Amino acid sequence: MATEQAARRAAALRQQIAEYDYWYYVKDAPRIPDAEYDKLFRELQALEAQHPELLTPDSPTQRVGGKVLDGFVPVRHAVPMLSIRTETDIEDSGAYNFDTRVKNALGAAEEIEYSCELKFDGLAINLRYERGVLVQAATRGDGETGEDVTQNIRTIHCIPLHLKDCAAAVLEVRGEVYMSRADFDRYNEKQRAQGLPMLVNPRNGAAGSIRQLDPKLAAQRPLSFFAYGLGEVKGWGLPGTHGAILDGLEQFGLPVCGERAVVQGAQALAEFHRRIAAKRDALPFDIDGVVYKVNSLALQQELGFVSREPRWAVAHKYPAEEQITVLRDIEVQVGRTGKLTPVAKLEPVFVGGTTVSNATLHNEDEVRRKDVHIGDTVIVRRAGDVIPEVVGVVLERRPPDARAFVMPTSCPVCGSHVVREEGEADARCTGGLFCAAQRKQAILHFAGRRMMDIEGLGDKLVDQLVDGNIIRSLPDLYRLDMATLAGLERMAEKSAQNIIDALEKSKVATLNRFLFALGIRHVGESTAKDLARHFGKLDSIMLATPEQLLQVPDVGPVVAHSIHDFFAEAHNREVVQQLRALGVHWEEHDGMAHQVLPLTGKTFVLTGTLASMGRDEAKSRLETLGAKVSGSVSKKTDCVVAGSEAGSKLDKARELNIPVWDEPQLLDQLKEWEGQ
Ligand code: IVH
Repeated sequence: MATEQAARRAAALRQQIAEYDYWYYVKDAPRIPDAEYDKLFRELQALEAQHPELLTPDSPTQRVGGKVLDGFVPVRHAVPMLSIRTETDIEDSGAYNFDTRVKNALGAAEEIEYSCELKFDGLAINLRYERGVLVQAATRGDGETGEDVTQNIRTIHCIPLHLKDCAAAVLEVRGEVYMSRADFDRYNEKQRAQGLPMLVNPRNGAAGSIRQLDPKLAAQRPLSFFAYGLGEVKGWGLPGTHGAILDGLEQFGLPVCGERAVVQGAQALAEFHRRIAAKRDALPFDIDGVVYKVNSLALQQELGFVSREPRWAVAHKYPAEEQITVLRDIEVQVGRTGKLTPVAKLEPVFVGGTTVSNATLHNEDEVRRKDVHIGDTVIVRRAGDVIPEVVGVVLERRPPDARAFVMPTSCPVCGSHVVREEGEADARCTGGLFCAAQRKQAILHFAGRRMMDIEGLGDKLVDQLVDGNIIRSLPDLYRLDMATLAGLERMAEKSAQNIIDALEKSKVATLNRFLFALGIRHVGESTAKDLARHFGKLDSIMLATPEQLLQVPDVGPVVAHSIHDFFAEAHNREVVQQLRALGVHWEEHDGMAHQVLPLTGKTFVLTGTLASMGRDEAKSRLETLGAKVSGSVSKKTDCVVAGSEAGSKLDKARELNIPVWDEPQLLDQLKEWEGQ
């Protein structure tokens, strides 16, 4: 191809690819199938290989490919990168104090207008664009001088290498590089599977990746970016407000977080703080607070700075999601299936909004990997509604008498043998229902909300019932009487009666709930539903051979054998028989083994918020039509239904080229199928 023609084609491809990148990484709304995109990308790579003179630094092929550096080159910031004052109190006063300071400094009586944003928990970066092209990226450093991390920043796909319609001679964009929670989990899962070191938290993931000297390694860690301000600007007529600057940056194709607002007065600041606090757990990334900025640039200038912090901005923090505390002991808990879990007993610490004194250590290997000793000072993390976790050790604070953890060889509850099978991460107590801990957990599981739903049967009561030898097996639950219950500690007549009523009510069950409640290994809620739908009758399941069980959608050999072995055990058949004799019942039908529904064999995944119905309703309607509704997207998924604010599952669906429906499409289809 003649060079001129090649140059034109390369330019066109670059523009096309940049546009698709924008829709994919910034707008989260892909415009073409991955395969088409790859084709364009490979064409550009081939062109550039043939005509190296055509290569430009803003070509999308240049996101990865830089050389390993010896070290980072210092960059002096044209405009210093300042930090902001922090209000740490978790109440409203942070908002009111800031507003009062601003009003006093301005001598203003009227309400001030503010731009409210999230305080992203990552690493501050300055992106320098000259005539719209990204020429340099630097860390904050000491505020005056940072480090040149351009190569690594280029690997972040949502950062445009070329701005849209921006001819400014210089435009420095400031913002935060961060790792989303989903990307963090995915990365750590991959590392764990390969026995490689894991990241402590998303912030360390982002910071560590940016400070990586080999850009290929940096590129393996998925990072994102949000713009929140400006550095040096030449040749762009600044708008009058901070809010308008953010809108402008968005127009240039930069990612700006949608969770922002322009408001008037202190009360509205406090409301923003509260509104974001309520959804903090549900955000796809970590934040450590919100930021308020005086919206008018003229007023910002009038307010100026005190000791290198602007008077016009403040960070209003939320309770930290990580804290340091002392690990006093490691206790071993026995779960329903006998799994032994080491649990850290902590010096109580306020983290993520609650006081935490227990944190899971998952299993023996995790304790080793994190090098946790008894007596250590540890980092505890509680983010979102996940259970608190020990993520690391402050080694410098290890006391001389710190002790390593040893997994016991006999069950701490029943003394039975502990085994850890080849290739398994978990150690298990072999006591089965002889073990009081397993019995307690089995009863609590049976009584759970999504199982037999026995209200009021909590762990304190189950402890008493099992420890007092009142309940030795599940059927004993239905033999409880008022006199026995009312005789228990902290049990008034009224609550005893409530338990009796709840037990009576639970007798009206469904086959799938009952199956799930039995606690058969590997039979979760969805397998229980599949089994109930397929066989229709409990006896058919109890008599099924492993081969017949394999006919059920999504039941593989491990699950089939587990079900078969469970019912092969005389003791378990006895439990079922007694429960039925005591009045537990459900409706049975002929099974659907041979009946084909419109969605039989199809797997759906629901993600995001559906406006017209709850996700539970959508799920049950799809299931009634024969579909399986799964929680995660895989190659076996046939369709993903994406409501508003769908996140990583939608990304995954696109990655795997799985059809995606929006809510109207789902409603149309449901109408059609249900009408059949
Ligand atoms: S504005 C002069 N806005 O918080 C104002 N900072 O000390 C400069 N941060 O490490 C900062 N989210 O990287 C601003 N929406 C946001 C922010 C934000 C996170 C970080 C920033 C810096 C620290 C501020």
